[in-house]
Amino acid sequence: MKSIDLFKLNGKVAIVTGGGSGLGRAMAMALSEAGAAVAVVDVNEETAQKVKDEISVSGGSSLAIKADVTSISEVNSMVEITVKEYGSLDILVNSAGTSHASLIEKMTLEIWDEVMKVNLTGVMLCCQAAVKQMMRQRRGKIINIASIAGMVIPKPKIFNGGYNYSASKAGVIIFTKRLAVEMAEYGITANCISPGYMRTPLTQKVLKDKKSYKEIINITPLRRLGEPSDLAGAVVFLASEASNFITGHNLVVDGGYTLW
Ligand SMILES: NC(=O)c1ccc[n+]([C@@H]2O[C@H](COP(=O)([O-])OP(=O)(O)OC[C@H]3O[C@@H](n4cnc5c(N)ncnc54)[C@H](O)[C@@H]3O)[C@@H](O)[C@H]2O)c1
Repeated sequence: MKSIDLFKLNGKVAIVTGGGSGLGRAMAMALSEAGAAVAVVDVNEETAQKVKDEISVSGGSSLAIKADVTSISEVNSMVEITVKEYGSLDILVNSAGTSHASLIEKMTLEIWDEVMKVNLTGVMLCCQAAVKQMMRQRRGKIINIASIAGMVIPKPKIFNGGYNYSASKAGVIIFTKRLAVEMAEYGITANCISPGYMRTPLTQKVLKDKKSYKEIINITPLRRLGEPSDLAGAVVFLASEASNFITGHNLVVDGGYTLW
């Protein structure tokens, strides 16, 4: 096989949670462009449908599924619907995520749980539902979207209080390593992508703050913010045969931010 063919995803079936917006949308489009059929999953039905339509317009095959990643029944039916439609599940990308910062002295259990539930418990539930199918198939690629916030403390002060966010993302990184070890015998790989500062609805508020924006650019060796399309190559690589001997890895896509 030619090396370029290792990246092709023709005949593969993917689920992308949080696929209705930002990074999830960009990764769903990228997987489709590489040849995969993509189930776009989001708690927001409208945006999932919009991305499905975008994929259809560009000639790809896609499904829009409304599911909350914190609901066991909705997550199970997300996998069932996908497998019923396409016959298998080869790739799971967990991109659904949220943030709600609070200084430690003001952190309530509600705010803490709100973020942990989507970012960490949601990842566990989606992986659980997907690996049941992948273990039967004896193949699968899991890609969990963590964050540099799970590795280092983000610099601009405007990010203060993301205790729950950072803890959830650090949790995703170590959860993925354990999954990689325990699923290896079934031919399933599990890896993370940790994006740095990317221009999406999630970071809109922070990026509007000129001082914080400048601070981020100044500390980023590549001197710019990430765009959602910067994840296209990383997700296709980890979803494809090109990465068959890579598991438990955390691929950092941050323009060098964490190198200091
Ligand atoms: N934008 C960044 O700079 C950045 C950096 C590092 C990591 N991340 C991570 O990347 C992922 C995507 O972030 P984004 O910037 O694209 O955000 P975004 O807000 O644009 O998209 C997140 C999507 O997740 C969906 N979602 C939220 N809760 C859900 C739930 N319970 N069930 C199903 N879907 C749900 C939302 O409806 C939305 O469509 C997140 O996990 C985020 O933590 C983002």
